[in-house]
Amino acid sequence: MASDVRCGLSSLLWGAGLVILVMVFAVIEVPSDVSRRGLQLRRDWISLTEVEGYVINGVNATNIRAFLRHLTLHPHLGGTEGEWQTAHWVADTWRQQGMDEVHLVPYEVLLSYPSTSMPNKVRLLDGSAREVWASAIKQKPLYAPEEFDPDLPFTFNGYAAAGNVTGPVVYAHYGGSKDFAFLAEAGVNVSGSIVLARYGKAFRANIAKMAEDQGARGLLLFSDPSDYAPEGPDFVYPHSYFMPPSAAPFGTTKLVDGDPLTPFYPAVESAFRIPEEEAAIPKIPIQPIGYNDAYQLLRELGGAKAPQRWQGGLNITYHLGPGFRESDWTVNLEVNNRNTMTTTYNVIGVLQGREEPDRYVMLGNHLDAWLFGSLDPSSGTAAMMELSRVFLQLYNETGWRPRRSLVFCGWGAEEYGLVGSTEWVEQFSTQLSNRVVAYLNVDMAIEGNYTLRTKAAPLLTEAIYESSKKIPNPDPEEVLAGRTTVYDTWAHRRPDPHEPHLPRMQSIGSGSDYKTLQHNLGVPCLDFRYTHDNVTLGEPMYHTLYETFALVDEIYDRNFKYHSAITALWGDLAVTLAESKILPFSLDVYADYISKAQLAIEEKYGQLLSSQNICLEFFTEAGVNFKKAITSFKKVINGLDRNNHVITAPSKTDAYGATAFAGLVDTLFAIEEASENDKKDLWRIFAHHLAAVTHLLNTAAKVLSDDLW
Ligand SMILES: *[C@@H]1O[C@H](CO)[C@@H](O)[C@H](O)[C@H]1NC(C)=O
Ligand SMILES: *[C@@H]1O[C@H](CO)[C@@H](O)[C@H](O)[C@H]1NC(C)=O
Ligand SMILES: *[C@@H]1O[C@H](CO)[C@@H](O)[C@H](O)[C@H]1NC(C)=O
Ligand SMILES: *[C@@H]1O[C@H](CO)[C@@H](O)[C@H](O)[C@H]1NC(C)=O
Ligand SMILES: *[C@@H]1O[C@H](CO)[C@@H](O)[C@H](O)[C@H]1NC(C)=O
Ligand SMILES: *[C@@H]1O[C@H](CO)[C@@H](O)[C@H](O)[C@H]1NC(C)=O
Ligand SMILES: *[C@@H]1O[C@H](CO)[C@@H](O)[C@H](O)[C@H]1NC(C)=O
Repeated sequence: MASDVRCGLSSLLWGAGLVILVMVFAVIEVPSDVSRRGLQLRRDWISLTEVEGYVINGVNATNIRAFLRHLTLHPHLGGTEGEWQTAHWVADTWRQQGMDEVHLVPYEVLLSYPSTSMPNKVRLLDGSAREVWASAIKQKPLYAPEEFDPDLPFTFNGYAAAGNVTGPVVYAHYGGSKDFAFLAEAGVNVSGSIVLARYGKAFRANIAKMAEDQGARGLLLFSDPSDYAPEGPDFVYPHSYFMPPSAAPFGTTKLVDGDPLTPFYPAVESAFRIPEEEAAIPKIPIQPIGYNDAYQLLRELGGAKAPQRWQGGLNITYHLGPGFRESDWTVNLEVNNRNTMTTTYNVIGVLQGREEPDRYVMLGNHLDAWLFGSLDPSSGTAAMMELSRVFLQLYNETGWRPRRSLVFCGWGAEEYGLVGSTEWVEQFSTQLSNRVVAYLNVDMAIEGNYTLRTKAAPLLTEAIYESSKKIPNPDPEEVLAGRTTVYDTWAHRRPDPHEPHLPRMQSIGSGSDYKTLQHNLGVPCLDFRYTHDNVTLGEPMYHTLYETFALVDEIYDRNFKYHSAITALWGDLAVTLAESKILPFSLDVYADYISKAQLAIEEKYGQLLSSQNICLEFFTEAGVNFKKAITSFKKVINGLDRNNHVITAPSKTDAYGATAFAGLVDTLFAIEEASENDKKDLWRIFAHHLAAVTHLLNTAAKVLSDDLW
């Protein structure tokens, strides 16, 4: 999983443009029952309930465990031999399982690797530039045999620029915009320094961009023990799932999705490539270090004492810098990464639909990992391989095919910034925006065993509620407490803060391969996994050497019951979306979501807006019209003969909810922070956006009716 990043304004406008196109297509397109092929059932008839039962009960934990063991034997970084082998194994396995079509889809892309001979290093230098201390070049092997493989790559961050820079250190807390603003206010000069920031709040590519924009020479990233080993040194891997001192999480530092040399177009052979100097990748060296190494720098740091909330879990007082207590000491950061053209592969497997083979329910997971990736992503890959097996066994035994096609996707180079999925969506965007009904993403099947965690387009809210109510609870203690389904524990342990009788659903921003489908094409997407009990903590061993098979097999999911529950849930959602004659989209939830978001903007920014003579009247009215259109649309649906009609149009209207309003809110946020000079331009952007969103809402309302106007 790449970390969360909010969409930039330009990509929003781009997305909005596409949505208009999408909706126009939705209007003129006739729902297709074409190429109906005769269904040769090996049994006379199989009911939907039987299909659901077969899929839920057919999932076999032993198989998932075996798949995961295989997938985590070697590192499989995007664009390397490891990813290539994984992709071929997935393709071969699908062929053996009997998938109708299996495609290996290559893209030539610019990826980034550490040198194989010259490790990246951080050095503490004294006044005579003599080395006082140097950082580890790899994470320390601790437990699983594969950690001791001498050929593992040196520690690095993807796309960090090569360079050898020296300067004073500045501590920047989580490296957020507020943190940099605080430093400026405190008179700490970031320019010319090497920034030391904590992982855990901002996406590392945003930290890198901010450090670079402020003139920093380099950036060091570490995971503070207060965030990643909060229970102390005895409760870290391999005794627990918290980070040991030498854990140095890898991760991309590129902000823009996809291949950096072919923005907006697929990285196929005929592609036009911009020169590397123009690519949106960092210009400064960046390096992750363990908290044992961060300790060596922080304990020597000079300058003012950092404020209380900036203090961390190391047994010292954190200072801001710049520079050290020994005023002539400096830090040297040597990064020897290289960017290189290489091939990454997506693997696409298709189980053809019987009635509407040209309508796709997509299911996907990425194949590449920073090292062994037992959670991220291989827990998800193992689940996907078992799910395809169950569907094909069901087909073999009964002849059942889904009404619409199921498209299984193994994405390449996700960790580098959603590279494989973005290139594929760029290549096939027109077909996809007309034909994809929904995309179900499982980046990791598990990162804990406490409760379900979901991110969803509002349209899919009820679909996942209903499916999770059918999945038996994998947690025996919860079953004893009377909560017999996945839904029950989800509602109990992670209630919605505003509607506590419902489970919490997070909105879908970015962070994994649903991004381009959801935000550029408007396909409703869902991302889900089992998680642990701490909402503020991400996956504790995220992107480190210690994401091993043993971590899963001995700590998180000892009988693979949680993997099985996710696999069954994935399968049931796929059956529901592929079989329902009328797609189970939550239109009311969506309309509510829009009016609530509108209200929130009005409440928070109403005064600011009227001070600028900007009125929200048209915007609000468009929301009301949309709601009305949904009401009449639902009347039409309820009057339909369900045996003969299929409605897919609503799926095409889902792009602007979360995104477009995020565009409005982001701009207002920027306006509040901006200097008087910049405000004028931002207000213009805001007004432009508001008009675009209003137009889109009105268009969406029209799409739901038969009238042209
Ligand atoms: C699960 O799969 C394993 C190995 O493939 C097999 O031995 C076992 O019988 C299966 N379990 C069930 C319940 O089918
Ligand atoms: C389904 O049947 C085909 C053809 O016999 C076979 O190759 C394939 O392995 C079977 N798939 C499963 C999942 O049993
Ligand atoms: C990088 O700079 C450091 C400090 O000046 C020096 O010791 C090291 O040899 C340099 N590395 C390379 C590859 O030049
Ligand atoms: C910050 O440091 C840089 C590099 O040392 C220097 O060029 C710049 O003038 C400094 N800025 C301020 C405001 O002191
Ligand atoms: C969640 O983790 C954070 C950071 O590690 C910690 O401060 C907080 O106390 C934890 N919360 C719970 C409920 O365990
Ligand atoms: C403080 O923490 C560091 C790094 O974890 C450790 O090496 C050192 O022994 C600790 N010192 C004390 C006095 O606990
Ligand atoms: C669930 O995770 C906890 C750690 O959070 C672990 O102690 C426990 O054994 C796990 N349960 C299973 C069934 O693996």
